[in-house]
Amino acid sequence: MNAAVLVPAAGRGERLGPGAPKALRELGDIPMLVHAVRSLLAARGVTAVVVAAPPDGVAGVRDLLAAHLSPRSPVQVVAGGATRQESVRLALAAVSAEYDIVLVHDAARPFVPAEVVEAVIAAVAEGADAVVPALPVVDTVKEVAAVDGAETVVRTVDRSLLRAVQTPQGFRRAVLARAHAEAGGFGTEGATDDAGMVERTGGTVVVVPGSEEAFKVTRPFDLLLARALLERRAAEAAIASTDRTEIDVVR
Ligand code: C5P
Repeated sequence: MNAAVLVPAAGRGERLGPGAPKALRELGDIPMLVHAVRSLLAARGVTAVVVAAPPDGVAGVRDLLAAHLSPRSPVQVVAGGATRQESVRLALAAVSAEYDIVLVHDAARPFVPAEVVEAVIAAVAEGADAVVPALPVVDTVKEVAAVDGAETVVRTVDRSLLRAVQTPQGFRRAVLARAHAEAGGFGTEGATDDAGMVERTGGTVVVVPGSEEAFKVTRPFDLLLARALLERRAAEAAIASTDRTEIDVVR
């Protein structure tokens, strides 16, 4: 079953510190957005990608993708909006009518493994309205409130019932379109994920296993993690190519 993936990439990335819009910052000489699009296109079933670029940077993002991807890559770029929710809505409007399965993936999760993308597509193809990849929460989580001006713990949440949710999130197209048309009440920031909007409109959201490699690059420390992961992948690729050479020699 083929799927289109929307990639909201119009955020400023202020928590990452000063610099270019987050999706355009480089990891190992390659912009984060390019890593993300390559990761998506490596998954079976992904046959279209729609990137929502910063509104003042659409032409630049088109050039960037053209410079790094093969000319036949099924990628289009549209102008994003003031919030992530708005960027997703604008990208969804550009998806060709033939797609019944639509995924949404943060450009800020550049290294999502193909298996996670494929598991999300499979779960939607098997009938789920909405699917999120998620990991158990490792830290103990506490709810807090201001009491007499001091941040004070209200209660400890049972972490066995909590999941940290990642992207890509997958949807039956009509479900995502309805959620964007009807869901309100998310404040000025808009919804921070799309499954949350489906929950608001009464839909059921199914969970599949996520991956630590699908982490979101948000703060400066995440850049260190991203570079370490790239180095490990390069080392693994070098070992794999040595192994292949040895096999050829033995033959
Ligand atoms: O800020 P945060 O890390 O939650 O952003 C998640 C994703 O949403 C990023 O890929 C970012 O580029 C995107 N985004 C967007 N349009 C905005 C704000 C964020 O496409 N106005």
